[in-house]
Amino acid sequence: MEQELNLLKENLAMELKNCHKEADVLNVKSKYVGKKSRISEIMATLKDMSSDDKRKYGSLINNTKKELETMVNDYLDNLASGSVATFDDTIMYDVTSGSLHPVTIIAKEVTDALKKMGFTIVSGPEMDSEFYNFEALNIPKDHPARDMQDTYYLDNGKLLRTHTSGVQVRAMEKYGAPLRICVPGRVFRNEDLDASHENTFFQLEGMVIDKNISIENLVGVMQELLREVFKSDVKVRLRPGFFPFTEPSYELDCSCLICGGKGCPTCKNSGWIELIPGGMVHPNVLRAGGIDPEIYNGFAFGLGLTRLAMMKYKINDIRVLNSGDIRYLENFKID
Ligand code: DAH
Repeated sequence: MEQELNLLKENLAMELKNCHKEADVLNVKSKYVGKKSRISEIMATLKDMSSDDKRKYGSLINNTKKELETMVNDYLDNLASGSVATFDDTIMYDVTSGSLHPVTIIAKEVTDALKKMGFTIVSGPEMDSEFYNFEALNIPKDHPARDMQDTYYLDNGKLLRTHTSGVQVRAMEKYGAPLRICVPGRVFRNEDLDASHENTFFQLEGMVIDKNISIENLVGVMQELLREVFKSDVKVRLRPGFFPFTEPSYELDCSCLICGGKGCPTCKNSGWIELIPGGMVHPNVLRAGGIDPEIYNGFAFGLGLTRLAMMKYKINDIRVLNSGDIRYLENFKID
């Protein structure tokens, strides 16, 4: 009996994972907890059981039914709020030209490299709340840091996420510590468009929470990552930076691969491209995620996937990436 009940839970979990629409979940719901479901059949046999068996199995069966219902309802809630899910829908496939979009290729390379280092890929909603996008990240209302990210606020009180950092707190809430996640995804800002600014672009958030994490761990992960992606050692430099959600914060720049460091419009003639800001996760952010900063610490970083794709493929104008111009995008037929 116990085995069968456990199997029901396992099977339900497996089927839910494949549900991406409410209707799919409702089908699975009726199969697992509906009138004709196996658990209902088992419940119907209760009344004919000996009183010994009733005592033995009664609460087990009832609890299992409740657990199955909770699993379905939680899944429905998550689907509705678009909360943390495993990553499979954010990657952008350029189906029209039959080739992968350059940002997709980079996203895959970066996530493959991080997976080798033990990171799990997760995703979060593109339409998010002010809480996850700002407040939980130690950016209260009226904080000047909000001005750095010109935000699209929506009529329904939500916003289009300005960065993937909002998934930090969602992931901590969902998985607790220790944690090693990366979050590739689309983000939105009300930018004036030029060769290096778009209103829609891609980032990849990374976060490691554990005991005794240091900035050395972070630098090691960054170097390994860039080595894997560029297949060679890329010149980088670290500068102090400021982000409300990390303390200390830094900016990691790499030498501009488009002009070789000489200066061009993409690197604003500086020879360097700001590539991976990051730092040690601020205690307030850990607390917002329900993690005790006295026990755990960690680092986070936000990699510009779009920018990285431009570096790697020597694309000198960001606007082409969202242009849908197949003649251009077809140049990136890789494998
Ligand atoms: N979210 C920041 C941005 O979009 C980038 C960032 C900075 C992410 C520091 C981080 C971090 O995780 O630690 O500008």
